[in-house]
Amino acid sequence: MDILQESKIIRRINTGIKELDELLYGGLPERSITLVSGPPGSGKSILCFQFLYEGIKNGEQVLYLSLDKKEKGVILQAKAIGFDFQPAIAKGKAKFRYLNINKKQVYETMTNEIMEGNYTRIVLDSITPLSEMPLYVDERNNSSPYTYTYTGSIDAEETILTGPTRRRHLRFIITALESTDATSIITSELPFGSPYLSRDGISEFLADGVILLNYDPTMDRRKLSVIKMRNTKHTLKPQNIQIGYGGIQFV
Ligand SMILES: Nc1ncnc2c1ncn2[C@@H]1O[C@H](COP(=O)(O)OP(=O)(O)OP(=O)(O)O)[C@@H](O)[C@H]1O
Ligand SMILES: [Mg+2]
Repeated sequence: MDILQESKIIRRINTGIKELDELLYGGLPERSITLVSGPPGSGKSILCFQFLYEGIKNGEQVLYLSLDKKEKGVILQAKAIGFDFQPAIAKGKAKFRYLNINKKQVYETMTNEIMEGNYTRIVLDSITPLSEMPLYVDERNNSSPYTYTYTGSIDAEETILTGPTRRRHLRFIITALESTDATSIITSELPFGSPYLSRDGISEFLADGVILLNYDPTMDRRKLSVIKMRNTKHTLKPQNIQIGYGGIQFV
């Protein structure tokens, strides 16, 4: 089967951005993991709100894991741009959870949250604090993912994960997401003008899809590019977008 046929057959999950769905044969491939990268203020969180809100409109169960902002702030930020999650939260259809990366059990908490509910959409916003924190693996029992804990100290039986081994903790997050039926979005902060597609330079290879958000301050323009999408024939051309009440729109 060629890629074009395949593009049409795979079940698609609407992103909440009509024109983006049109570029992707209806949306993100079901159960895929997409990395949304971009510099500060490029619209990563807004895209996540749109994606989850679309699920709410369909009566789905959605989860937003925040790594840098407390729940209350995130819910308010979403409401200000037109996505009021409060009724869905009250009905148990949406869950917002802040994960403190300084807590030892951050990975365990995160995995429990991901596995516990019966979510169809999961957002992890953003992966950057996780990929930058010091990580140690307990060599006494490194078959368990829960040994990936932040200890803040190194003893003889612990090794710092660096270089290629860093892949292991990203792989771990991705494995947790893959073990669910959800379609997921992970965001990654990029310094303005970065040549990479994620801050860690690794996530883009592990994810099924990569969407890059960017802006050109001198032209006062915003862009969205689909850089990669599994099972999908797509254009690489940056699309002009605007952000306003109601989220991201193509222009
Ligand atoms: N009501 C609005 N109308 C127009 N633009 C808005 C509105 N609200 C927010 N924005 C724009 O959206 C940007 C914030 O988008 P968002 O929070 O999604 O960015 P982000 O990529 O998640 O940033 P960060 O990396 O800092 O988390 C603001 O900087 C502003 O330019
Ligand atoms: Mg954000």
